[in-house]
Amino acid sequence: MPTTDEVVRDLDLTGRTALVTGVSAGLGVETARALTSVGARVLGAARDLGKAKAALDGLDVELVELDLADLASVRACAETVLELAPSLNVLVNNAGVMAPPLLRTAQGFELQLGTNHLGHFLLTRLLEPALVAGAPARVVNVSSRGHLRAGLDLDDPHWHTRPYDKWKAYGQSKTANVLFTVELERRWGPAGVHAYALHPGVIMTELSRHLTEADLAALSSGARPGGGQLTLVDVPTGAATQVWAATTPELEGRGGLYLEDCAIAGPTPGDGSAGYAPWAVDPEVARRLWEWSEREVGLV
Ligand SMILES: NC(=O)c1ccc[n+]([C@@H]2O[C@H](COP(=O)([O-])OP(=O)(O)OC[C@H]3O[C@@H](n4cnc5c(N)ncnc54)[C@H](OP(=O)(O)O)[C@@H]3O)[C@@H](O)[C@H]2O)c1
Repeated sequence: MPTTDEVVRDLDLTGRTALVTGVSAGLGVETARALTSVGARVLGAARDLGKAKAALDGLDVELVELDLADLASVRACAETVLELAPSLNVLVNNAGVMAPPLLRTAQGFELQLGTNHLGHFLLTRLLEPALVAGAPARVVNVSSRGHLRAGLDLDDPHWHTRPYDKWKAYGQSKTANVLFTVELERRWGPAGVHAYALHPGVIMTELSRHLTEADLAALSSGARPGGGQLTLVDVPTGAATQVWAATTPELEGRGGLYLEDCAIAGPTPGDGSAGYAPWAVDPEVARRLWEWSEREVGLV
């Protein structure tokens, strides 16, 4: 598996502008670093600007405040970004939360669907003019192999009537990332704005902050849900696929793809080891998610 530096080694991104969400920890910091290292102008969004500044450690990244769990903050962030970068070539929807107890966003959404999908959905939609102006442009939605755990339940998306399952809720939110990619490509691809979803790998980051002792023990034993072994990779390797999605000339002019290990992935073999689930690429469900999301975030 290549690292971020290997992915960008032969590239010159001078004159290109990118926005990366979640630049206060983990993969977002590394993604911002890799993009700046080859000349891109990088805007970084974070809810805790002090933490982001410390994590970026002197890197040339323009910080913008963003709390994905509050749509007012998402709207304010988009407004600032449109002013700073009327032309945007890359949007990496990277920020995320995994397996917390049942919590809700400012608008009452289940926290994982609200943060991982709905916040990014609104941000992306509001940035459409900048992305179209920046075309050929790319929207990179950082999903997860965790999407194999659950599809989308539009009858009870926010877990009001079914008993909350933190892993299924994570899976649902990460399935939403892939479905959003499918519909985004259908709608914006013809304008030269292409969309990608991806699994970065399994990396020890702050993403595990909500895990219990039992969850951590299961993870460190290397057991994969559904059987087999988990392979841990370091942060520069884990962030490589999203940097590849954002930059590789190999993907020029195409999108609506699910990526793993810096390559286009196929359907899952069904054992949880790789690939995308059938429910994550269903074009009809993707269209329904788009229309439902528009109503949830108040775009219609
Ligand atoms: N690590 C893995 O093994 C793995 C595997 C598959 C997929 N992923 C995906 O990769 C992405 C990055 O994860 P990571 O491993 O880098 O996790 P991380 O170290 O926990 O970083 C997550 C980032 O998201 C930000 N964030 C969380 N909630 C937010 C909110 N409401 N508003 C704005 N920002 C928010 C965090 O901000 P704070 O610092 O303020 O908390 C942090 O900057 C996530 O989408 C995750 O689902 C990771």
